[in-house]
Amino acid sequence: MAVAPTPIADPRAVSDSERAALLEQVAATNFALYQWRAAPPDDDALDEWLLTFTGNFGLRAREDHRSANGNGVVRIQVAHDGGRVGYIPYTTLRIAWHTDGYYNYHGPDNCVRGMILHCAAAASEGGENRLLDHELAYLRLRDADEAALRLLMHPQAMTIPEATDDSGRFRAANAGPVFFLDDAGALVMRYTARKRNVVWRDAETRAAAEKLLALIEAEPLARRLTLAPGQGLLCNNVLHDRSAFEDHGDSRRSLCRIRFNNRINSN
Ligand SMILES: [Fe+2]
Repeated sequence: MAVAPTPIADPRAVSDSERAALLEQVAATNFALYQWRAAPPDDDALDEWLLTFTGNFGLRAREDHRSANGNGVVRIQVAHDGGRVGYIPYTTLRIAWHTDGYYNYHGPDNCVRGMILHCAAAASEGGENRLLDHELAYLRLRDADEAALRLLMHPQAMTIPEATDDSGRFRAANAGPVFFLDDAGALVMRYTARKRNVVWRDAETRAAAEKLLALIEAEPLARRLTLAPGQGLLCNNVLHDRSAFEDHGDSRRSLCRIRFNNRINSN
């Protein structure tokens, strides 16, 4: 049975036992689920609480994301105007399996390795996430087809073509491996299951990626949940997706995300 999110009495002052409970989950699956018992009074306070909370886990190297506010916090909500209109995360559409920042890889120690996804407001319907430890995906592929795994570890395995981002900025093509080790020897994954705007190194690598996706889709240990307000995911950039959702009446799904260049409790 799935473990319930760990209650956190005050996210600004995480207790030793609360921290230990979350770190135990991270050690087992590279992610932890929590439930804040206290609620911040407003959006600005929420940003502060998220930064203090993640600081308790050594997550301090924030990525400069184009959609982030000055605090490095991105609000994932449906955009009706502005530069984000039409970009999948800011619609009600499903998001395919991915790890965060797969288009922003600049070497094993300069990429997204940590992330928090915190629910401020849930959708009326849908908006479910599936979560999967990327180390487990690696092991499944190694067991099924070691040659396919080697192809996905090639330094040029997956290229995201150049594009214009959601603030109108040009982004150069981004090439790199799917699986790699950082300088501390931790396994990191850079991946998207989307079919468009992804170039695989060759036909064999594309076939390897299809094999990987089939294993991910069939994985019985993938966690499935719909985050409720105050709940969130603290992780070493594990695989995740999102189902489509609907907002009715005044409801407006709102998730906050911060990406980090380091892992939980690492440098
Ligand atoms: Fe994501």
